[in-house]
Amino acid sequence: MARRPDHPVEPLFVDRWSPRSFTAEPVPDAVLLSAFEAARWAPSASNAQPWRFLIARHGDAHWEDFVGLLAPRNALWASRASALIVVLSVLQVERRGEIVANVSHSFDTGAAWTNFAHQALLLGWHTHGIGGFDRAAARERLAVPEDHAVEMIVALGRLGSLDTLHPEFHAGESPSGRRPLDETVFAGRLGLPAFASERNAA
Ligand SMILES: Cc1cc2nc3c(=O)[nH]c(=O)nc-3n(C[C@H](O)[C@H](O)[C@H](O)COP(=O)(O)O)c2cc1C
Repeated sequence: MARRPDHPVEPLFVDRWSPRSFTAEPVPDAVLLSAFEAARWAPSASNAQPWRFLIARHGDAHWEDFVGLLAPRNALWASRASALIVVLSVLQVERRGEIVANVSHSFDTGAAWTNFAHQALLLGWHTHGIGGFDRAAARERLAVPEDHAVEMIVALGRLGSLDTLHPEFHAGESPSGRRPLDETVFAGRLGLPAFASERNAA
């Protein structure tokens, strides 16, 4: 079902969704470079840019290692992506000559990943975030140092037809909806309506 925003937004924001049917075709470097470039320009506390990305392209020397990290249910579909990207973040930041904990390392890296996802979509490529994978194995097998967090894996690919997708996922293969804004944005305290239109409706 087509998504309908409740208020005007750039179509990009509702057009991005997370499919599971992918064609497994090779992804051009130009697409990857543009998407990573968009991620690069995300805002971050102290401009620390805590995000780091490890990429495996379908079938390359790293591919089986990356697929092997996925929870079996995710591997059923994500193994047909064109690239898998392990997203890391750096836990510390230098402030005024001192190395301190960066409390927003995950928050800022989340901003970078959505930039990536939106730029990829503008170029005709879909992304699907994956939290269901073995983080300890990722750290060990990909030699991720202790001062980096393992955040998520992103599957990137071209949308395939349903017959490329395991039947288990056919029913869920469409864009999801969202909670309304009046359950999300509040005036000063959780539960207090933020907009006059909501107060009138209550
Ligand atoms: C951090 C993160 C982890 C996720 N983990 C999984 C996952 O393990 N398996 C999966 O099928 N989808 C996963 N997703 C996809 C979400 O379920 C999906 O983004 C959400 O349902 C909203 O749908 P949409 O992206 O199509 O708008 C994850 C998304 C994010 C951002």
